[in-house]
Amino acid sequence: MNIVVIGTGYVGLVSGLGYAKLGHRVACVDVDVAKIAALDLGEVPFYEPGLRDLLREMQEQGRIVFTTDLYSVADGAEIFLIAVGTPPTAFGEVDLRAVFHVADDIGKCLDHEAIVAIKSTVPVGTNRKVLDCVREKMIAIGRENVSRCIQVASVPEFLSEGKALEDFFAPHRIVIGAENYTTHDVMGRLHAGLPGTRICTTLENAELIKYAANAFLATKISFINEMACIAERVGADIQTVAHAIGLDPRIGPSFLKAGIGYGGSCFPKDVSALHQLAGLNGYDFKLLGAVIEVNNHQRDWFLRKIENRLGSVRGRKIAAWGLAFKGGTDDIRESAALDIIQRLCARGAEISVYDPFAMTRAHGLLSDDIVFAPTAMDAAEGADALVVLTDWQEFRDVSFSTLRERMVNPLIFDGRNLLADMHLSGLGFQYEGVGTSG
Ligand SMILES: NC(=O)c1ccc[n+]([C@@H]2O[C@H](COP(=O)([O-])OP(=O)(O)OC[C@H]3O[C@@H](n4cnc5c(N)ncnc54)[C@H](O)[C@@H]3O)[C@@H](O)[C@H]2O)c1
Repeated sequence: MNIVVIGTGYVGLVSGLGYAKLGHRVACVDVDVAKIAALDLGEVPFYEPGLRDLLREMQEQGRIVFTTDLYSVADGAEIFLIAVGTPPTAFGEVDLRAVFHVADDIGKCLDHEAIVAIKSTVPVGTNRKVLDCVREKMIAIGRENVSRCIQVASVPEFLSEGKALEDFFAPHRIVIGAENYTTHDVMGRLHAGLPGTRICTTLENAELIKYAANAFLATKISFINEMACIAERVGADIQTVAHAIGLDPRIGPSFLKAGIGYGGSCFPKDVSALHQLAGLNGYDFKLLGAVIEVNNHQRDWFLRKIENRLGSVRGRKIAAWGLAFKGGTDDIRESAALDIIQRLCARGAEISVYDPFAMTRAHGLLSDDIVFAPTAMDAAEGADALVVLTDWQEFRDVSFSTLRERMVNPLIFDGRNLLADMHLSGLGFQYEGVGTSG
């Protein structure tokens, strides 16, 4: 099939390359000129394992092209897949400007039957509005007859950054929302060759499934974080508790890691958007309100933990390991790590940071006073305390006996319980995890 993917971020690029690998001819479009130029040269402008190799393979085979000009690749395209960002506005609503901008552009250049499919996470009802927008544009330029043949499909994305390609090629399910059998069938053929249960359903169901999935995972995280607070108070260990309850298949082991809370480009905005959607429809989704509150509280609680131990952090040298919102990605959007670093800095701490992949992105966002160290060990040189904020495997591989010598005060606050099983107190460290004594 001939497809056009609009937006070449984490979702659009992974999907575009994935569909190309499945045998489709793919054109990727983005407004970001530098990004398209880099991709054209075989460079991926963000960190995602395996993507660069697949990009070069698909380019060599001539199965994918990159452009900033939608018009140049619209001819003959059967599916226009929208994968642009849907960030939150200052008021916590979903900013759909990019989605409708693209819908406008598609309407202006579309002169043949096609499907407009939305992969971006959008509130319930958006797919229908996008279809109306595309059709209106077509009618305005005298293409009323063809406009009736345009269909819309909701194909929400469930990939997880850090293992995005793995998720693309081995999805747990493929959700396709559409209004008729033909559209379901075409979208099904787009995904031919992929495993995973097909859920062919309505537009509204597909849109809500995506929010429900993220809200549920965020709820698990806030639940285990509250359990960690209790564990600390009663002298229990949250890691053991989480492991034991996770063995029950009705609960499952994932998203039961206590820590400084969820962040990233999806959970915070999607949970808030669902909470708002409920409110707008006259329903007070109390549980989600609590999920958000617990998540915010978790960062305050971690900062208090540090201050309780150190007294004031003013003038204290604190090493921070991690900037990305989780290990395996360079994405720092809504990163709890960044927030905690900024708040420590605002309280007068002298911060030295290290992250294996997210340093470039964080430059310019953090205060000039913060030192970007070339290695994890360098960041910890002369530190009064070390805070672990992102769960990078690399942090487990440092020599802790050397680290013990390089720090002034061997005190570790582990916001991800990453080092909890490493018996660091035996090496002379004072270790504080989240709901665990390590
Ligand atoms: N990142 C994830 O892990 C993830 C997972 C599932 C779903 N999603 C959803 O997928 C969507 C995209 O997320 P992302 O992380 O890939 O975003 P991103 O910010 O990484 O990428 C969005 C891209 O769209 C481009 N863009 C913006 N306006 C455009 C326009 N008018 N025309 C063409 N390109 C345009 C931007 O330049 C950017 O390259 C969001 O709705 C997000 O919620 C993201």
